[in-house]
Amino acid sequence: MSFCKFKPLASLLLIASLVFMGGLVAPLTAAESPRERLSLDENWKFHLGDNWPKAMRLDKAGANVGPASADLFSDVSWRTVNLPHDWAIELPFDKNADKNHGYRAVGPGFETNSIGWYRRAFELAKADEGKRIYLTFDGVYRDATVFVNGWIVRRHEGGYYPFREDITDVVKYGERNVIAVKVDATKFEGWFYEGAGIYRHAWLEKTAPVAIAPDGIFVYAKFNNNVPEGAAAIHVEADVLNKLTNVVNAVVNCEVISPDGKSVAKFKGSQQVGGELQATLKLQSKVSSPVLWSPESSKLYKLVTTVSVDGKTVDQIETTFGIRTAVFDPDKGFVLNGKPYPIYGVCNHQDHAGVGAAIPDALQEFRIHQLKKFGCNGIRTSHNPPTAELLDAADRLGMLIMNENRLLGSDSENIRKWDVMIRRDRNHPSIVIWSVCNEEGHVEWNDQGRNTARSMQSYVKRLDPTRPVTYPAPQGDTVGGINSVIEVRGWNYHPGPDMDTYHAKHPQQANVGTEQASATSTRGIYESSPERGHVAAYDEAPHQWVTSSETWWAWFGDRPWLSGGFVWTGFDYRGEPTPYAWPNINSHFGVLDMCGFPKDNFYYYQAWWTTNTVLHLLPHWSWPGREGHEFRVDALSNCKEVELFLNGESLGRKTMKRNSKLTWKVKYAPGVLSAKGYDAAGKVIAEAKRETTGDATRIELTPDRTTINANGEDVAVFSVTAFDAQGRFVPVAQNKINFALEGAGKIIGVGNGDPSCHEPDTYVSNLSVRNVALNEWRWKTGPFRGSDHSAPEYATGFDDLAWNVIKAGSGDGAIRTDNTAAIYRAHLTLTAEDLSGPGVQIHFTGCDDEGWYFVNGQYVGETHDWDAKPDFDITKFLRPGDNVIAVCCRNGGGNGGLSPNVTVDIIAKPDELPWSRSLFNGLAQVIVQSTKDAGEIKLTAGSAGLPSVTASVQTQPCAPRPFVP
Ligand code: GAL
Repeated sequence: MSFCKFKPLASLLLIASLVFMGGLVAPLTAAESPRERLSLDENWKFHLGDNWPKAMRLDKAGANVGPASADLFSDVSWRTVNLPHDWAIELPFDKNADKNHGYRAVGPGFETNSIGWYRRAFELAKADEGKRIYLTFDGVYRDATVFVNGWIVRRHEGGYYPFREDITDVVKYGERNVIAVKVDATKFEGWFYEGAGIYRHAWLEKTAPVAIAPDGIFVYAKFNNNVPEGAAAIHVEADVLNKLTNVVNAVVNCEVISPDGKSVAKFKGSQQVGGELQATLKLQSKVSSPVLWSPESSKLYKLVTTVSVDGKTVDQIETTFGIRTAVFDPDKGFVLNGKPYPIYGVCNHQDHAGVGAAIPDALQEFRIHQLKKFGCNGIRTSHNPPTAELLDAADRLGMLIMNENRLLGSDSENIRKWDVMIRRDRNHPSIVIWSVCNEEGHVEWNDQGRNTARSMQSYVKRLDPTRPVTYPAPQGDTVGGINSVIEVRGWNYHPGPDMDTYHAKHPQQANVGTEQASATSTRGIYESSPERGHVAAYDEAPHQWVTSSETWWAWFGDRPWLSGGFVWTGFDYRGEPTPYAWPNINSHFGVLDMCGFPKDNFYYYQAWWTTNTVLHLLPHWSWPGREGHEFRVDALSNCKEVELFLNGESLGRKTMKRNSKLTWKVKYAPGVLSAKGYDAAGKVIAEAKRETTGDATRIELTPDRTTINANGEDVAVFSVTAFDAQGRFVPVAQNKINFALEGAGKIIGVGNGDPSCHEPDTYVSNLSVRNVALNEWRWKTGPFRGSDHSAPEYATGFDDLAWNVIKAGSGDGAIRTDNTAAIYRAHLTLTAEDLSGPGVQIHFTGCDDEGWYFVNGQYVGETHDWDAKPDFDITKFLRPGDNVIAVCCRNGGGNGGLSPNVTVDIIAKPDELPWSRSLFNGLAQVIVQSTKDAGEIKLTAGSAGLPSVTASVQTQPCAPRPFVP
């Protein structure tokens, strides 16, 4: 991401005035537009484990306690995290944990690691009163219970769908509000690594009471007969939501801005919207000579929709869209903008090295860039809807998307999720097809499976008349069940005669290779080892349902009607270790490893999916002690002929068949294995070599970009590479590398692509807490002081020596008279060191019936329930030396008073984190995130016996996206 997405104010104003001079509608400034979309990613408090099983109360509204309450709870001992956050990645590996989820100690059997609590406070200005306030989570794994100010506002099941709640009724203005989220990741939803926690973004949105409804803009372009010639018809559907009780006349103005920033269409409409109702306006216009979107030319239009009521603007929204045609044709295959366009696609799960499922937006871009390097032009978001930022990146960078729903189902909850996904995503030009689900083997062949898929497919037509639907079927020439109704036949595996037979029998149905290959290979490994869980990278098919890359692509490449397809997978992902198990903890189906480092198969696809001249040799040529051993040598290339040499001596020249590769057997001798690639005229057009190297004497640190944005979100992805004394890459280096970082950033994850590496992906500081019992209390009954902070008994200097002393557990100190108040005082001595950590909290075990709590004469809080056991964060009231805790307790009836066993937690400053990672076959990766300070990030890598090396990235000033402080 080389641009600053969120411009500083000065440049925004400049753009605004330029745009205005150019005759466009000037965008509203934040002050004018009541709509605000504020990031809620920063400064959550997180606690792993459910220590509060009684926190949630289903009997009374707004009565949830402990962490689910707004006040009377301190989370100061909890760790601070920013979203996206995946706690599963922080857990150790465990042989008894689920293999398909990557052996992380989470899920069934690991209940104590499977529930987490998050809390976040925020304030709303008095001026926000009257607006609608929405809380949105883009994805939480998995079941989430969301509390706002002690109210349960949402219970959401399912790890892959965004959910939004209108929380207007329960928020407070000019005061502190508290969001708490209990996340339960005990249940699995898939058979692959899924993460745990709030692993996508969260937002607080504010709108006027009359506004565009959430996800309420749908814009799409159409051409006559789907032929992209002449003008494009622009269709807009705008849902206007009126939360007032009276009818309003909403005027909707639309303006289309071209990719080069010009206003190319303006149109408007109006609609009466009843009180507390929503209405949809359908508007149409056209854009003449449109610029078409494609992966190669990802030009985006923008629709600016402005809503006004009684002449006053109440909302404005910008929606990015693209103009293109995309058709799956039974004979021509996939046709983009009128031309056959084979899909060179990959299936991907959503996790990456170091960060698990919590992927910063910039890492989505990095991943797309890595895929594009081998000619990939499409992603199937297997087996769930992705985060919206992946789709934004696909629109911007040019990548086709097959957007996949998690589960087959036409019941109301499954249709609700299907609806949420389509409404959120239907404006993205990158999406060319919806997938109802993946491989539903129990039902795909029967009538119920068919009926359900048909219902889901017809539901799409109501929301999106522009895209077809597919079902990735792991079936051959089988037509019953889902295949009989689905618009585009999806092929999971089965390349071969079945496809031809099926096509001949069903000539009206379009086809696509939804999932192919599943070939396994480990980067830089050329001899398989079940013990180490490594698979040789010769692109073989070691288990039954899979094929090599060459087998499927040679088949599809010759049959344009198949539309191309999606390889299983683009990147390795955690879980599903195949064909081995422990110690192997992640899959190695990827063309790229977990970090995005290319495996050899990368060059097979690059040879046949790009127009680059490609010549790549495998294996590496560093095999000390293996002299005379016969190795298989492959050349991956699109040259017409390739000649192989060992130490300058030709081992023969071979002719390359389209979509294939060449193989030799070579007896190992140290030196240089090299190849020349020839064109049809016999001219050398490419050369490649693999040399026997020495040990690593040097490491290099290389960031993917030298400048990133100082917005607290952007990331630089550093490669760590080993070289020998002659400067040659060392393909077998496994040195352990330690990392240290200085400046305006932080390391968020490390990886190396080894599918069996059990080193930590990430390092977190779990806070250490010193618990102090506050046993010595003095007390005296007397006048009721309540919240009067000027009461002398609350003050530090007050002389309480004449008061009674109560010893903990003695039973005295009880107020035995009805309607009597007493004050209790205790001293707490702290050092400056005690106060240098994240904070100090105090736990009370009860104050019967009501209590008012003070620290050093300052009001802390109050309770009005004899059963309340309040916790307070008292950090800001404390100082080094003597501190006085005072409680005024009022007894209504029976015995009352302050309960004993008051304790204080002093939280220590976290230790420095010992970031490190071993190289795997010469490479490792470090993911570094910016802070909001512009400056320099210096990453240093050191390893025993090798000189340390430092690399820098600049962080450029960049206003962060609007956020909730
Ligand atoms: C497929 C399945 C994928 C993955 C793959 C492994 O059948 O759809 O999710 O499990 O097998 O080869």
